[in-house]
Amino acid sequence: MPAIVVIGAHWGDEGKGKIVDLLARKVNMVVRYSGGDNAGHTVINPLGEFKLHLIPSGIFEASTTCVIGNGVVVNPEVFLEELTKLNGWGVDTSHLFISDRANLIMPYHRHLDRMEEAALGGKAIGTTGRGIGPAFSDKVARLGIRVGELLDKEPFKERLSSILKQKNAILTRVYGENPLSLDEIFEQYCQYGELLKPHIRDTSQIINEALDRGEMVLLEGAQGALLDPDFGTYPYISSSSSLAAASCLGAGISPTHLKYIMGVFKAYCSRVGAGPMPTELNDETGELLRSIGQEFGTTTGRPRRCGWFDAVASRHGTRINGFTGAIITRLDILDTFKRLKICVGYKLDGQMIHNFPASITHLERCQPVYEEMAGWETPTSDIRDYEQLPLAARQYLSRIEELIACPITIISIGSNREEVIYQRPVL
Ligand code: IMO
Ligand code: MG
Repeated sequence: MPAIVVIGAHWGDEGKGKIVDLLARKVNMVVRYSGGDNAGHTVINPLGEFKLHLIPSGIFEASTTCVIGNGVVVNPEVFLEELTKLNGWGVDTSHLFISDRANLIMPYHRHLDRMEEAALGGKAIGTTGRGIGPAFSDKVARLGIRVGELLDKEPFKERLSSILKQKNAILTRVYGENPLSLDEIFEQYCQYGELLKPHIRDTSQIINEALDRGEMVLLEGAQGALLDPDFGTYPYISSSSSLAAASCLGAGISPTHLKYIMGVFKAYCSRVGAGPMPTELNDETGELLRSIGQEFGTTTGRPRRCGWFDAVASRHGTRINGFTGAIITRLDILDTFKRLKICVGYKLDGQMIHNFPASITHLERCQPVYEEMAGWETPTSDIRDYEQLPLAARQYLSRIEELIACPITIISIGSNREEVIYQRPVL
């Protein structure tokens, strides 16, 4: 049976958590494959309201195995906190596994994240400060420590000792900070190792065996296509690939398993952190989107920047991911707007362009060119049937579908699990 990928098509916060929670009942396994606890996935279901950063959003389905794949960077403290909370709420976590190959976020990663941001001054990325960038940098620099290493104490101490020497040199000599203690980190991470042990597995093997048995595996993306290191608004990006192609690497499966690639698009756009966002609205309309949509970061609480739906950026996401279906979320946030706009092209130095530029200096100069449409000015959250949506809402969705060149499958019209409209079969 196939693997399904659910990916953010914009700058993150598209509502992936809700969609994964919704689909978790239809699949046997949910796997996080990239990012770390920079993600903030809000799930509201009959059990309550949950904000997850690291643990897959499928955890509420007792019969669904959940996996934190090798492509994720894991802060064990955050993992254990989430685990304790979930257990406290009565959620069964015995079916949760964590890859022995996943890299760890170490205390120096969080320090360095903050120091590097401070050093950038006005050009700071606006990271979540969770140590994500430094941890992924260390992974490729061969200075990472993997989850499995925690279980083999002597070699772990040896590697930690040599890596910490380098990190302390940077902390003290570059940033004028105090050095971190080897013994303290070693003791603490050995304790984490003991607590993590029941969950640590070769998860690539578990996922491949499930696929071989004919089970359905959902790969849960974090962040969004426009935060991808290659295809996002570099350098204002996160540090692991959020794309469909990365799901195979981050889970340890062959690309031949991918059958459905679902892009999650917000009905408008939002971004948290710095970097270009051509349709950003610094006016009352932007303020209205933020207040109606309660657009504040799940991880950092920062106000999100809001703007109209950007079809140029969205189509870029469709192309590089090969979305087989589009999921449109938060349509209900637009319910009270009299007029709506969709960005159909950019004007760059007087010339119309329809592609998403690689250069941020170009992107910063891009003026959005809008098509205006009538709003529907009717509540939509109680609607369950596509045909029952007001005509103006259907017209808005059809235009988006046409512009992003991808059929819409699900429309979300509220935060609760049941507040969805299935426009086409999903799987
Ligand atoms: P979910 O999965 C929104 C943004 C940060 C910052 C940039 C780099 O909830 O959609 P990082 O800490 O990753 O080095 O920060 O990426 N960012 C997100 N924005 N949603 C997320 O995840 C994000 N994860 C990272 O705000 O601009
Ligand atoms: Mg989020």
